[in-house]
Amino acid sequence: MWKKVIFAVVLVAFVGVQLANSLSCYSCKDLTSCQNPTLQTCSNATANDSTLWLSTLHNNVPIVEGSLDFFCTNLTYYHANNNSRISEFLGCVHPNAMVCNLTLTKEENRTIWSKECHNCNTDYCNKNNPAGTFSGSAYTMIGSVLALLLAKIFS
Ligand SMILES: *[C@@H]1O[C@H](CO)[C@@H](O)[C@H](O)[C@H]1NC(C)=O
Ligand SMILES: *[C@@H]1O[C@H](CO)[C@@H](O)[C@H](O)[C@H]1NC(C)=O
Ligand SMILES: *[C@@H]1O[C@H](CO)[C@@H](O)[C@H](O)[C@H]1NC(C)=O
Ligand SMILES: *[C@@H]1O[C@H](CO)[C@@H](O)[C@H](O)[C@H]1NC(C)=O
Ligand SMILES: *[C@@H]1O[C@H](CO)[C@@H](O)[C@H](O)[C@H]1NC(C)=O
Ligand SMILES: *[C@@H]1O[C@H](CO)[C@@H](O)[C@H](O)[C@H]1NC(C)=O
Repeated sequence: MWKKVIFAVVLVAFVGVQLANSLSCYSCKDLTSCQNPTLQTCSNATANDSTLWLSTLHNNVPIVEGSLDFFCTNLTYYHANNNSRISEFLGCVHPNAMVCNLTLTKEENRTIWSKECHNCNTDYCNKNNPAGTFSGSAYTMIGSVLALLLAKIFS
C-alpha cells in the first residue's frame, strides 16, 4: 500500500512539474516563416528578442527589464481592402511591451496598414488552428490520463 501511495505522489509531482513549465509559443517573423512557425520557450531573452523585432517597425516599444510571466502574441498587419497580409509576427513578448498598442514608425503606413493583434497565455495559443484549439484541451487530457492511472494503481 505505501509503495502505491509513494508512487502516486511521485507521479502527481512529476506531472505537476511538467504543467508548471514555462510558457511556450509559436515563433516567426515574416509572412514566409509564419506559414511554418517554429516553437519558442518564453524567457527574458526570447521576449527581448521580440522587443528588438518590434522596434524595427514601431517607435514606442517600451524597454522592459524582465518579466516573470509572458504572453504569446500574433501581430499581423494587412491591407483591409483585399485582406493581403503585409507583416506577420508570432512569439513570446513581455506583457509590459504593450505589443498590441504600438505605433508604426512610418507615418504614411499608419493609415494604410490595418492591424490584427492577439495576446494569450497558454502554451502554443498564438496560432490559428482550424481543427480547434488543442492547448485548452491538453490539460484536460493530461488530467484524465492521470485520473485513470491513479484509479488503476489503487484498484
Ligand atoms: C533584456 O533587456 C533588458 C533591457 O534592455 C536588459 O536589461 C536585460 O538584461 C535583458 N535580459 C536578457 C536575458 O537578455
Ligand atoms: C527576468 O527578469 C526579471 C526582472 O528583471 C527577473 O525577476 C527574473 O528573474 C528574470 N528571469 C530569469 C529567468 O532570469
Ligand atoms: C492589396 O491592396 C493594397 C493597397 O490597396 C495593394 O498595395 C496590394 O498590392 C494589394 N494586394 C493584392 C494581393 O492584391
Ligand atoms: C495605448 O496607446 C495610447 C497612445 O499611445 C494610449 O493613450 C493608451 O492609453 C494606450 N493603451 C494602453 C492599454 O496602454
Ligand atoms: C511603409 O510604406 C511605404 C510606402 O507605402 C513602403 O515603401 C514601406 O515598405 C512600408 N513599410 C515600412 C516598414 O516602412
Ligand atoms: C495571425 O493572425 C492573423 C490575423 O488574425 C491570421 O490571419 C493568421 O493566420 C495568424 N497566424 C497564424 C500563424 O496563426
